[in-house]
Amino acid sequence: MPLRHEQVHIRRGPRSALPVIVAVHSTALGQAIGGCRITSYPHWGDALDDALRLSAAMTDKCAVAGLPNGGGKTVVALPPGATPDPAARRAILHDVADAIAALDGAYATGPDVGTSPDDMAVLAERTPYVFCRPPHAGGSGDSSTHTATGVVAALQAVCDTVFGSSQLAGRRFSVLGLGRVGTHVARHLAAVGADLVVTDIDSGKRRLAVELGAAWRDPDSALQEEVDILVPAALGGTFTPGTVPRLRCAAIAGPANNQLDEPHTADLLHQRGILWAPDFVVGAGGVLHATAVELHHETGEQATARVLGIGDTLAGILRDAAQADVTPAAAALALARHRIRRTTPAGPTA
Ligand code: PHE
Repeated sequence: MPLRHEQVHIRRGPRSALPVIVAVHSTALGQAIGGCRITSYPHWGDALDDALRLSAAMTDKCAVAGLPNGGGKTVVALPPGATPDPAARRAILHDVADAIAALDGAYATGPDVGTSPDDMAVLAERTPYVFCRPPHAGGSGDSSTHTATGVVAALQAVCDTVFGSSQLAGRRFSVLGLGRVGTHVARHLAAVGADLVVTDIDSGKRRLAVELGAAWRDPDSALQEEVDILVPAALGGTFTPGTVPRLRCAAIAGPANNQLDEPHTADLLHQRGILWAPDFVVGAGGVLHATAVELHHETGEQATARVLGIGDTLAGILRDAAQADVTPAAAALALARHRIRRTTPAGPTA
């Protein structure tokens, strides 16, 4: 298999002794961007797989969002079950910062699973290529609210396409994962009067279900719940040839990255008549907001307008897909490829 990434760096962090992986998939459209994920893996090779797939998805995410950026990702593989203490965490972050600094600006990072704006401030002690520091530290702050805003715009577009009305009130949703983004989305859906089912692997999140008046399910039941729209907001790999036949939803749209185990699963969903809104389209709100504010010096309102544009972008993709009788995934990838090719005449061959 050819290496499709421009650069992949793997280093045992000199301070943390943990595998620090930085994958730069593409800088064809500009500086590669993508979050820093610090989480447990059975083996560091799994973290490498994740970094390769997540960074490639960031290239598509940025291209479809119309950003002058490419895709990258940082992954630090913690041993299973590990929760580093504050000193160990700083050591990890400084290892990450040095790895990013060594790329001389080809790649900039942001928050992701297992990292926060405060962590971004620690990275910024050693490299300038960091988005989403807290506002008091000079950054645009937590990106998760903006990612959630984009998800809501995407849900409206999906409702409009599937049910002929963008109204979320009265529709039934199952939110899979109550991390930062999933929690914001669930709160919004509850506030507008949607019929809500939620789940998380952490049963402590059940309190939030009670607070929102949402039904709580275990993760597997929430996946199979009869709903209008499933909203995957946890880790990836949810949809597989094993899970697709058990789904009872009309559509899927959520911010989790890499929701499909492999690209062909988009065809399985299509064959079942389930509309899958590509994750790399739905989840672009965080990068859109952070780059608008930090790179392009736009106001909060201008940045939010860009995030809300995800609704129109997705609606256009769904229209193109219907017209060409292809999956939304195929239509979105065609759009990404077109943008990358237009900018780089000698660009990628695959
Ligand atoms: N976690 C974000 C994503 O997957 C990464 C990010 C956010 C990168 C904001 C830069 C700025 O899209």
